[in-house]
Amino acid sequence: MLLRDVYGSHCRGSLRQLVRWLDEVGNVKLFRNGTGAMAVNRASSEFCDWDSVRRLIQGAFAYMDGRIDPPSSALTLTQEVMTADASKGALLLAKDEGALAGCVFAYPKGDALYIAKLAVQPAMQRSGIGSLLVKAVRADARRRGFSCLELQTRIELTENHIASARMGFVKTAETAHPGYQRPTSITMRAPVDV
Ligand SMILES: CC(C)(COP(=O)(O)OP(=O)(O)OC[C@H]1O[C@@H](n2cnc3c(N)ncnc32)[C@H](O)[C@@H]1OP(=O)(O)O)[C@@H](O)C(=O)NCCC(=O)NCCS
Repeated sequence: MLLRDVYGSHCRGSLRQLVRWLDEVGNVKLFRNGTGAMAVNRASSEFCDWDSVRRLIQGAFAYMDGRIDPPSSALTLTQEVMTADASKGALLLAKDEGALAGCVFAYPKGDALYIAKLAVQPAMQRSGIGSLLVKAVRADARRRGFSCLELQTRIELTENHIASARMGFVKTAETAHPGYQRPTSITMRAPVDV
């Protein structure tokens, strides 16, 4: 069964409801394993399309320009940084009919599985793809024996604080970038089992 058979391939606004529906019927693997229109998969060790991942992240993070201080590390993202983060853990890619829709890096940091550069194509935001990626990270964390997920988001980006809270994260700390006397980021954590 394809997702478009269930909900229609052009019905992006319904993706979030679809995720919930799949959860309810315990059928979320159908979604993640790529048999439908949207798939979330781990990038393999042969993955080499780093330019597309960088474009996705820089496009999604562009709205932060002029809003956060210091500027986002996404602006200077290199292939070396991305391959290092992926090799510490995993790079998960969300694809819509094969086209890159979202991504997230997830790697161990202390006792948590850390979520970095969670990004969804701007035109596809708020349709459930970010939640789907976090759900996939949760599954990975559970498999690897982590009890919680962690992320950091900039203090200025209150919409991210809200979105992260909606995905089950709660604020656990404030931190400052080197050279800053005020908090520049907040740390949020979510239990793996919800
Ligand atoms: C943040 C981001 C990854 C979320 O992914 P998404 O696919 O847009 O989010 P979802 O559609 O899965 O929404 C998840 C929840 O957050 C809420 N949410 C998402 N964006 C929101 C926003 N801008 N303001 C308020 N709430 C928001 C949704 O309403 C939803 O809540 P609900 O399940 O109670 O309805 C995505 O918007 C993005 O790429 N933003 C730009 C890059 C970025 O800021 N990354 C995060 C760095 S920490």
